Amino acid sequence: METKYIEKVAKMNSGKNLKYAIYTMGCQLNENDSERICGMLEEMNYTKAEKVEDANIVVFNTCCVRENAEDRLFGKLGEMKRLKEAKGTIIAIGGCMMQEKVMVEKINNSYPYVDIIFGTHTLHKLPEDIYQVLINNKGVEDIIDIDGEIIEGFPIKRNDNIKASVTIMNGCNNFCTYCIVPYVRGRERSRNPQDIINEVQCLAKQGYKEITLLGQNVNSYLVSKKINQENISYEVAIEDEKLIVNSFATLLRAINKIKGIERIRFISPHPKDFTNDVIEAIRDCDKVCKLIHLPLQSGSTEILNKMNRKYTKEQYLNLAKKIKEKIPEVVFSTDIIVGFPGETEEDFNNTMEVVNQVKFEQIFMFIYSIRVGTPAEKMEDQVPEKVKHERFERLKKLYEELVAKRNKDYVDKVQTILVEGKSKTNSNILTGRTESNKVINFEGSEDLIGQVIKLKIVSEHMWYLKGERI
Ligand code: SAH
Ligand code: SF4
Ligand code: F3S
Repeated sequence: METKYIEKVAKMNSGKNLKYAIYTMGCQLNENDSERICGMLEEMNYTKAEKVEDANIVVFNTCCVRENAEDRLFGKLGEMKRLKEAKGTIIAIGGCMMQEKVMVEKINNSYPYVDIIFGTHTLHKLPEDIYQVLINNKGVEDIIDIDGEIIEGFPIKRNDNIKASVTIMNGCNNFCTYCIVPYVRGRERSRNPQDIINEVQCLAKQGYKEITLLGQNVNSYLVSKKINQENISYEVAIEDEKLIVNSFATLLRAINKIKGIERIRFISPHPKDFTNDVIEAIRDCDKVCKLIHLPLQSGSTEILNKMNRKYTKEQYLNLAKKIKEKIPEVVFSTDIIVGFPGETEEDFNNTMEVVNQVKFEQIFMFIYSIRVGTPAEKMEDQVPEKVKHERFERLKKLYEELVAKRNKDYVDKVQTILVEGKSKTNSNILTGRTESNKVINFEGSEDLIGQVIKLKIVSEHMWYLKGERI
């Protein structure tokens, strides 16, 4: 990426002790973008503010996947007015919501004190936008509709020093009928494998132990290039070897060879693209966690069809069964939407049935939220709010019962955990996670942080387990 404006702003800010604050709403891709935003801000001589009141620039990185994200943003923006008036804080808003024209209009009309509006394809231009505001003292709108190219070489300030996220692709081609993401993130663009490998190698050298590969549909990595008939066979250099990467499976195999990395996770794969080579790569790669996030969305074939998910209930169940046969220790997590238009009691019961059968380790549950501009917005048989909430509660209850049962299975077993740090509530307690992403708290000395150790589970407490050193 071009650093000209970073340098210009850095010079203007030098010696002024300026501070920044950032609010990130949304998924891990947005979190990863925020790490880049923080990287750019720090290079421009802003340091992180303890309190938002101390900040000279406040950045909002927005999400629009569900309605509640909007309410949160507008609440926070209202609070910014006072800050702006008191000390002229620069206010910048970026991310997915800014790719929606109605939202930009709403901000322009109702929150005129916002200085910078940038989109998902113009993240790398934030330094230039800030420069323009500093020089001209007037607002900047920097949004494009066309898909941005993959930009490499962002400075990055990471949130954690043991676990890191690595975005492997941007955008989505799937157009699930409820979902806004393809409209605000554009079409799939895959990063060059060598760039991904270099980033992971660099993280390994810095002492990172766990990496999560990110994308809206990671198992279609490189597929869109293939459709465009571009060459997708890359020879990559890794440690002392040369390997060919031409798919998500081969990427996993390559990353598995990077010394120092202990765990590899990835989100999200799409069930329709879960080919045998991906299953075999997960099985063969010792560092790839045997927890697979397999978004179900609904257990009803009819609803899945209306959602444009491209699989049936049976295909999903067969896929889970096939994976389990090839990798017996595997467990699953999932995303489920309740109350999609037209969802009947019978449809919902099918979802409950799949949950009962697959016994997910973790379920991210969402109440269907109408997104303007998506096909589902126009569907006539919207489910009443009351029914949606009532079904959500039923699913939640089933999920909690499953978690409670599963927790009991952990007790007295030995688990391998990556120690992530001190517990937030008690600094004498360390906390880590199993491969299946369960939180384990235990007593131990600080030098264990960053290590992979074995613990015996001694008790269970719904959302975490207690372990003991053996
Ligand atoms: N690409 C990922 C997920 C992206 S969004 C995937 O396909 O799995 C994360 C989750 O938000 C989705 O899996 C879905 O469960 C949920 N979601 C997306 N749009 C939604 C909407 N309009 N209402 C409620 N939940 C939604
Ligand atoms: Fe949205 Fe579907 Fe793409 Fe996931 S796969 S981001 S749910 S359109
Ligand atoms: Fe939200 Fe954008 Fe992620 S809409 S879920 S932040 S891709």
